[in-house]
Amino acid sequence: MRPTKATILTMATASALVLAACGGGDTAADGDGGGADGRSLRLALNQTEEHPSFIALENFGSTLDEATDGRWSIDVYPNETLGAQAEALQLVSDGSVEMAIVSGPQLENLNEDFVVFNLPKVFDDVEHQMSVIHDPEITGDLYASLEESNSVTVLGGFTQGARSVYTTFGPVTTPDDLAGKKMRVQESDLHIAMAEALGASATPMAYGELYTGLQSGVVDAAENNEVSFHTQRHYEVAPHWSQTNHLVGLDYLIINSDVLAEMSEEDRAAFDEAWTAAHEEHTELWMTATEEAIAAAEAGGATFNEVDEAAFDAVLAPLAEEFITNESQQALFDAARAAAE
Ligand code: GCU
Repeated sequence: MRPTKATILTMATASALVLAACGGGDTAADGDGGGADGRSLRLALNQTEEHPSFIALENFGSTLDEATDGRWSIDVYPNETLGAQAEALQLVSDGSVEMAIVSGPQLENLNEDFVVFNLPKVFDDVEHQMSVIHDPEITGDLYASLEESNSVTVLGGFTQGARSVYTTFGPVTTPDDLAGKKMRVQESDLHIAMAEALGASATPMAYGELYTGLQSGVVDAAENNEVSFHTQRHYEVAPHWSQTNHLVGLDYLIINSDVLAEMSEEDRAAFDEAWTAAHEEHTELWMTATEEAIAAAEAGGATFNEVDEAAFDAVLAPLAEEFITNESQQALFDAARAAAE
């Protein structure tokens, strides 16, 4: 049986306490990184070791370790070992874990301006998304906005690619096919509204609970990218993939702001350079990982179905107007769209 959210929280707190008791040295389960005097940054991830995010982050850690002569390194804890994303965000804010990858909707809960980059159709494709979210002119204030309130600095992110719907009960062609179905969503108001706009009943749930949720019938539908559909083995319990491409999702890399402030100027420059290389590598890996995930899920019995994309877009389009309610959100939206043109 998979652990419940409450168990995960307890596990996360326990792990954090154990890790904190070990001090700032090399605490990696795999023992690499961070020399005797080096500082090892624990990074919470909810993906498996085969996911492009894990691969790019591991390489980020090695590059950083080498570039700083072991003064800084990163230990990636995959599979929600340090907690699901909501808990990981809290642990980074507390400083008991230094870094995490969290999905856009999690940050929307701390500052509503983040909602803009979670909207359907704000990004045309991965390339457009990456150019916007790594442009400091557009994102500088947004990424620093959680420092005072939460001690969290946003460093940029990884794409989640285009997200589509998958179901336990058969393919969907238009939103009507989701009427009355229970759909798992990420924990945010926008994602709840999105499922409701599709006619489904929204069930917010942590990522790691979804396999069991689909298997047991707690939910009938979910939405994600092909890579997660495969690496989380969701295709085993919800094999009907319907290619809605309703939004291009975004994962953020976050770090505790006090930890970041401890880096010397030279080490911070090395850190930034290694991170840029890591997200560029992730984008390169993404296309291949998507193709491989489709092939593997198909071999495991999943079917990939076309939909009436326009019908999905039509019911989701009004969300932008509903969720953009202040000037800073409008400015972010306009800047993102201008970068597409
Ligand atoms: C993607 C994303 C994760 C997110 C997950 C979800 O896999 O990369 O960060 O947690 O979707 O739907 O919860």
